Amino acid sequence: MIAMTNIQLIDKLNAEKRLTEAEWVQIISTYTPDDREYARALAQGIAISGFGKNIFFRGIVEFSNYCKNNCYYCGIRGGNAKLSRYRLTDEDILRCCEKGYESGFRTFVLQGGEDPAFTDERFVGMIHKIKAAYPDCAVTLSIGERSRESYALLRGAGADRFLLRHEAADCEHYAKLHPPYQTLENRMRCLRDLKDLGYQTGAGMMVGSPYQKPEHLARDMIFMADLDPEMVGVGPFIPHSDTPFRDEKAGSVELTLLLISLIRIMLPRVLLPSTTALGTAQADGRKLGVLAGCNVVMPNLSPADVRKKYMLYNNKSGTELTARQGIELLRGQMEEIGYSVIVGRGDYQKV
Ligand code: 5AD
Repeated sequence: MIAMTNIQLIDKLNAEKRLTEAEWVQIISTYTPDDREYARALAQGIAISGFGKNIFFRGIVEFSNYCKNNCYYCGIRGGNAKLSRYRLTDEDILRCCEKGYESGFRTFVLQGGEDPAFTDERFVGMIHKIKAAYPDCAVTLSIGERSRESYALLRGAGADRFLLRHEAADCEHYAKLHPPYQTLENRMRCLRDLKDLGYQTGAGMMVGSPYQKPEHLARDMIFMADLDPEMVGVGPFIPHSDTPFRDEKAGSVELTLLLISLIRIMLPRVLLPSTTALGTAQADGRKLGVLAGCNVVMPNLSPADVRKKYMLYNNKSGTELTARQGIELLRGQMEEIGYSVIVGRGDYQKV
């Protein structure tokens, strides 16, 4: 059998929405600049036909940097004794939402470390307050692994969406990024429960994380084809100096952009953010993400005094800015490439 070219494989992905593991490995390990441009143009066209040149904004509120987990890549891991820890109060969080609402946000993302102080009761109370104040807004949780009962309770309280990157779909690779008590099995259980409970669910992974091979990324892509998530978050790995991965090299922006395009081709309606990590790795990274098929940007609404403490990786972009400045910067970047930011919840559109 004559092997297919990468461009033929991209066309096959577009037609069938799936590739075999060997086909994924081929593209990921042999792509050329022409292949990247072919995927990019196709993906951008798909995004424009689904969403126009419109970008959804989500406001992220980083409510706590306490974390009981110990992911080897992450700056807010529990084992990082150098980090000064903070928690926002309910009032702080509501103030962030208020500012965000005035700026046109209709989705609030509550993101934090796995902080035991944030009990189910506390989240239920928070969700009720946000929904009462802003009934036209979506609430997205990004709060890590919890029990099915907890996810059900929070969904019942009104949470609409949940972001939980799978981080690595290959068991051995997952184990290289996390301590033994954090298992891929539980991560997968969480994602299945979230989908099952009716959350619009987000998965995703870092590109170029330590020990990652093309086979691992191939498994990530196949896993996402099977899960059919409503959202996908992908960004390059960026080392953090107070983690075990301090001396590892950063992930490739080019490969990240290629994978973003392939995800758009595979999951045409997925909500796909151009991530902060992409904007940190390269100054125009978030614009390139949009041109590669992204349709979401997630500015930070956290209070200025805590931003530097929510450092998942070094030099995280936007930590010097106020919420307003960060929003205007991103809005300007989108306008520079002919896109506009729209006011609206931006829910996943089922067919
Ligand atoms: N580089 C890039 N992304 C990171 N994340 C955590 N640490 C890093 C890092 N060093 C990502 C993880 C997590 C998300 C919130 O941030 O994928 O799910």
